[in-house]
Amino acid sequence: MPMNIAIDGPSGAGKSTLAKRLAKELGILYLDTGAMYRGIAYHVLKKGVDPADAEAVRPLLKGIDMRIEYDPSCGVQQIIINGENVTPFIREHRISFAASTVSKIPEVRLKLVELQRAVAAENDCVLDGRDIGSYVLPDADIKIYLDAKPEIRADRRFKELEEKGQLNGMTPGDVLADVNKRDYQDMHRDFAPLIVADGAKVVDTSGMNADEVVETIKDIIRECK
Ligand code: DC
Repeated sequence: MPMNIAIDGPSGAGKSTLAKRLAKELGILYLDTGAMYRGIAYHVLKKGVDPADAEAVRPLLKGIDMRIEYDPSCGVQQIIINGENVTPFIREHRISFAASTVSKIPEVRLKLVELQRAVAAENDCVLDGRDIGSYVLPDADIKIYLDAKPEIRADRRFKELEEKGQLNGMTPGDVLADVNKRDYQDMHRDFAPLIVADGAKVVDTSGMNADEVVETIKDIIRECK
């Protein structure tokens, strides 16, 4: 049976940095499930559809063929929709809230969960997201819930957007408001909301740098073995 490590938590807790590093060090696959919801959001917006309009989103789903590929030169996950590599476009700030909104639609989730489970059934992998330990893989070998104070998560997000030149005039306060709004939506949806999964180890990364987070999680993995 493949080994699966589930990492959940709110935005900016450090999930993707941790998941990437762990996957590299352990020599296993990294599945970024948020990128899959971002891919759907990008496609829906491109079609001119409001991600909040479930009635309009549902009929689009049948026409979405999503594939996950790994760039052979660097191993980075690519999201391919109907043959188009949408990976370069899904990190834009406007996509973040659209992904959170479209992810409330159960049919969207079921479509992506099926893909996620198929990858996990075939590969040793680290998956990060919001519902991995609670819904997608309740029997995952290791479950981590990564958290940090909202101000710290927003500060990390602010710096990330600044580095990418995507602030577009947003202040730290604006980014904090966006982070809080998205987390509230992810935690309060009806179907598979962000919760601390049964059996998950909660790690607060507020005072930690990336190395410290990786070491803390490696200790947890060693203890669980
Ligand atoms: O991890 P991220 O910021 O790239 O995720 C974008 C959005 O996708 C997030 O706000 C909620 C949704 N998402 C989800 O509902 N379930 C997951 N497993 C991963 C992401």
